[in-house]
Amino acid sequence: MKVLVIGSGGREHALVWKIAQSAHASKVWCAPGNAGTALETVAKTGIQVENVPLGAEDLKGLLNFAGEHKPDLTVVGSENPLALGIVDRFQNAGFRIWGPTQKAAQFESSKVFSQEFMKRHGIPTAKAASFSEPEAARAFARELEGRCIVKADGLAFGKGVLICQSVEDADRSIKSILKEKAFGEAGNRILIQELLVGREVSLHAICDGKSYQLFPTSQDHKRALDGDQGLNTGGMGAYFPTPFFVAEALEQARQEILDPWLAGCQAEGIDYHGILYPGLMLTEDGPKVLEFNSRFGDPETQVYLRCLKSDLIEILEASIDGTLNAVNLEWSEGVSVCVVIASGGYPGSYTKGQRITGLETADDLSGVKVFHAGTRSSKPDIITSGGRVLGVTADGNSLEAALKTAYTATEMIQFEGAFYRTDIGAKAISWRADPHSISRGSLNWSTNKA
Ligand code: AMP
Ligand code: GLY
Repeated sequence: MKVLVIGSGGREHALVWKIAQSAHASKVWCAPGNAGTALETVAKTGIQVENVPLGAEDLKGLLNFAGEHKPDLTVVGSENPLALGIVDRFQNAGFRIWGPTQKAAQFESSKVFSQEFMKRHGIPTAKAASFSEPEAARAFARELEGRCIVKADGLAFGKGVLICQSVEDADRSIKSILKEKAFGEAGNRILIQELLVGREVSLHAICDGKSYQLFPTSQDHKRALDGDQGLNTGGMGAYFPTPFFVAEALEQARQEILDPWLAGCQAEGIDYHGILYPGLMLTEDGPKVLEFNSRFGDPETQVYLRCLKSDLIEILEASIDGTLNAVNLEWSEGVSVCVVIASGGYPGSYTKGQRITGLETADDLSGVKVFHAGTRSSKPDIITSGGRVLGVTADGNSLEAALKTAYTATEMIQFEGAFYRTDIGAKAISWRADPHSISRGSLNWSTNKA
């Protein structure tokens, strides 16, 4: 089977890596890919993965490529092409593609759509309202005493979310998005949510229109710096599985979030095939949805796929065909972690083109796989080309062991300005030592398995 993967980040490298191991893959392309995707080899045929110089949003170019090379399956990694309707376009042209349609992808491409959907179907979320006029928005922010999150409705490369602690903060954020258009058209409308307090976890469900299968939870680290300080980023590291949102809590998420979501989709004629990734805040009142994403998380994918034993192509095919009931998702017993190495200055401005050293030595360590994100080949070197540059993943029998290996590998890799968080997984370790240390309410609805 010939497979085309669309995207260029760490998530797409992980998808390419896992797909290349499938018993069904004979040829794999990645558009546009990165320096790491082009280093992978398809296990069955020994053919190297080929990067295709087409951007993930170049729908016309990608359709032409599909017309010429006839991939048997196209896998969409990132949200922007989904929001642009790549799945509809490929399907109309007769190509098999995995991911939600433009209508279904609205769960991520419009935060207002998602919030209204949750309200209609009784899905627990933050108190919220949407606005296109600043005055009404300011009044609502006052009701929340300024402790709120102001979100651009549309896609803004993960940046359109402003955290406010005061009425002044909220006024500034409302003005910046609605009037000054800090996020362009994505901010024609805003959503204001109450600020929820608790621990954040990532839920992933693979869906086939009629049913879904829930993955065990993982945890991302959104802020740039240790101790959850600094600006929000795309994600600075992850680990899988989390010790604190398991078994009974997952069952609760199933009943309160995923089941009403699926029933809502069916009632509203939304045929959802793909990943639904709800970002959850575990509050004292139980889990609440912060947002829905319509694709795999990044860097969650990197840790999920290190632990997924099943053949990914079989899962994606079942998601397209509506046959997920017949598929068994098998996970390894171990733990996997991912430490993201970023360019100095990220998520603000940063330089590109820095030469990276130590990659091979790190990758050669037992249990380590370095996924590339913002990298480019500049023969004979690999150089930086983005904010999040690499995701160093390691597996182990325990979180502590996996972290030790991951950080040993991370320290071997160097480039000018490189930085990473040193506290990935620390919340799980402190929670295990004292479950009350983080959130007292959490024990009411989670099982202490670890
Ligand atoms: P989103 O893109 O909506 O996931 O928001 C990005 C990040 O902002 C989330 O991962 C959370 O860390 C934070 N966030 C979003 N909404 C809320 C909320 N209502 N309360 C607290 N934090 C939030
Ligand atoms: N892990 C954050 C995201 O993928 O949006």
